Amino acid sequence: MKIGGVKIKSRAVMAPIAGITDRPFRALVMEFGAGMVTSELLSANALVRESEKTTRMLPQPGEPRPVSAQIFGGEPDILMEAAKIVDETDCDIIDLNFGCPVKKVTKTGGGAALLTDIKKAERIIALVVKSVKKPVTVKIRTGWDKKSVNAVEMAKSLEGAGAGAITVHGRYASQGYSGLADWGLISKVAESVEIPVIGNGDIVTVEQADGRLKSSGCAFVMIGRGALGAPWIFRQFNEYSRAGFFGKITAVKMETVILRHLDMMTVHYGERRAVRKIRTLIGYYTKGIQGGARFREAANKTADKNSLKRLITGFFAHSGEAVLT
Ligand SMILES: Cc1cc2nc3c(=O)[nH]c(=O)nc-3n(C[C@H](O)[C@H](O)[C@H](O)COP(=O)(O)O)c2cc1C
Repeated sequence: MKIGGVKIKSRAVMAPIAGITDRPFRALVMEFGAGMVTSELLSANALVRESEKTTRMLPQPGEPRPVSAQIFGGEPDILMEAAKIVDETDCDIIDLNFGCPVKKVTKTGGGAALLTDIKKAERIIALVVKSVKKPVTVKIRTGWDKKSVNAVEMAKSLEGAGAGAITVHGRYASQGYSGLADWGLISKVAESVEIPVIGNGDIVTVEQADGRLKSSGCAFVMIGRGALGAPWIFRQFNEYSRAGFFGKITAVKMETVILRHLDMMTVHYGERRAVRKIRTLIGYYTKGIQGGARFREAANKTADKNSLKRLITGFFAHSGEAVLT
């Protein structure tokens, strides 16, 4: 399967998640066979201003590919300038965020605010596509609110303007994360355009990923929250697609993954920041595991890497080959 000319080996891709899908996380899910990863959300304005912090968040040379860089903004010219900057970096695809419902983003006219103005959204894509060499994709929601669901119309317009693929998160913006993703509508979008559609929303198991892929007509499924604390879901999905079954994760394997994640974060952020930042992820990894709450509490108080490693090893020591997910 391809997006633009970019070959994607798995039909399950990782969703962009601000604050999580940094370089170490992206590398980890790619090791587990995700078809593609996306950067954290990058402000077009900040890129054009050459903000050091935002520039550092761009995909970097040497990281596993394919990787997409996601930008947001409300001004067509600024988005175009930012896309030109991204076009010169080590990524495969430029993704425009037309779905983020967060006020900080929509008040600039970007993210989901663009769902209310198909003509402007179309103009932006046409402008960006003609200004860059890499494929341009768009991530949308089903509409702005319940009364203005317009994903089919929007997808057709964006395809006409040159988008290489469209990701649809099956909720409208005003829903936030409440209710359920509307996979019926995602299927309608997939039926309505020729370009690959990436279906997204509420996939947390391998069986759901496989089922949604088969029933929706999407080229790919995108997994977000379901991969937090479970980056191996991509390997399990790939196994299941190939063989009809998949290996479960054991405690001993989970321990190895967390320790590896911590090492990768240390290389990227330095020890102090890595130990602080991995706390959120430890929360996801150990959710629902017996003794997890006490372990998380202790991990949150641990400030040096070696003590944290000992704590992690100690937590999993007695579980051995116990199957966790
Ligand atoms: C904490 C958080 C941060 C997110 N950040 C982004 C983002 O930066 N860009 C984006 O397009 N979507 C973002 N999303 C939305 C996800 O990519 C995805 O569309 C959504 O979580 C639904 O998929 P899921 O049910 O598999 O999680 C975010 C979601 C969450 C929960």
